[in-house]
Amino acid sequence: MKVFVTGGAGYIGSHTLVQLLAAGHEVCVFDNFANSSPVALDRVRQLTNRDMGLVEADIRDADALRNAVTTFAPDAVVHFAGLKAVGESSDLPLLYYQTNVSGTMNLLAAMDAAGCKRIVFSSSATVYGEAHYLPFDEDHPIAPANPYGRTKAMAEGVIADWAKATPDASAVLLRYFNPVGAHESGRIGEDPQGIPNNLMPFIAQVAVGRREKLAIFGADYDTRDGTGERDYIHVVDLAAAHLAAIDYSARACGCEAINVGTGTGITVKELVAAYERACGHAIAVEIAPRRPGDVASSYARTDKARERLGWTAKLNVEAMCADSWKWQSENPEGYAWPPEG
Ligand code: NAD
Ligand code: WQD
Repeated sequence: MKVFVTGGAGYIGSHTLVQLLAAGHEVCVFDNFANSSPVALDRVRQLTNRDMGLVEADIRDADALRNAVTTFAPDAVVHFAGLKAVGESSDLPLLYYQTNVSGTMNLLAAMDAAGCKRIVFSSSATVYGEAHYLPFDEDHPIAPANPYGRTKAMAEGVIADWAKATPDASAVLLRYFNPVGAHESGRIGEDPQGIPNNLMPFIAQVAVGRREKLAIFGADYDTRDGTGERDYIHVVDLAAAHLAAIDYSARACGCEAINVGTGTGITVKELVAAYERACGHAIAVEIAPRRPGDVASSYARTDKARERLGWTAKLNVEAMCADSWKWQSENPEGYAWPPEG
């Protein structure tokens, strides 16, 4: 099958490419490297011994996107490209709407031009906002609490309307919970620019000595140990969910949102303890004030992914930490891009 992958050089995209190429699919990546490195694609080539097409361009450039999609003529599209920093989205909202919403509209128009009717979209559990009940199921009200979350909710709406108006179209909106970990080879992984916003890469950088200590944002939540509880999902499991969603899109029409998580919540303190076991030494922490906008708990109801996609998470928190540590300890500066100097 021919699969067009926007944002394929990124964290989740690169792990998905490994599985797509290993399964024998023909792949074309469309990425402007706004938040990733071409080195990640080289590593994917080395891991799989396979090559992929690459178009280096911006999804806001409708002409470039249409040319790329019509030239490749894909059977299906996986749409990872986008901006994902919650704090930055409040400072630069138009950049986020242009990239995540207009970029998605450009992609659907390009698919129309190429006659492609199947899309798997990177959505986020952040679309749910504050929990009315837990676990979150896919019918939970949508009420994102920041511009980033609103771009994802809007893009979901655009894709749903496109699917309704396009005969035989199939769209799968994957709502990821908290992706973590790395490929077991240690060759690809998460490589945030600057100070990490997210917990796992921050812990990893403390563990490897790049940062002094982790600030735990709040120890007075209504959880087992007072720290925030999240549904961490191994990126290799998440990648597998994309392949299952591509298959599903061949046998289902319409548009469906599907949670991708393990269904189990893990607290900040529990994740730190698991990481200490993985790296073999203590991680320095301090208790800090709550981070504005954070919720106490978030975890997924996972029945729909099992029923529709035949997919469930297989890798536990020990594997998430062990694989993150292998990546971080063997690549302490990540992909080391852009070159220092
Ligand atoms: P990432 O930043 O590593 O990957 C995104 C990729 O898109 C990068 O390679 C980047 O260069 C590319 N990109 C960004 N803007 C672009 C543009 N204008 N044109 C072309 N390419 C562009 O992020 P990720 O963690 O791999 O996330 C992938 C997708 O999943 C994103 O849409 C993100 O919003 C979504 N998501 C991520 C998480 C998470 O915690 N990582 C959770 C839920 C949803
Ligand atoms: C997890 C827990 C923090 C950092 C974010 C986005 C969401 C999605 C996934 C894209 C919380 C605590 C964190 C730190 C800490 N991304 N924490 N110290 O906030 O659940 O979700 O990433 O779609 O949209 O909002 O993930 O990793 O930032 O935080 O104590 O230095 O770790 O308070 O309890 P979050 P996170």
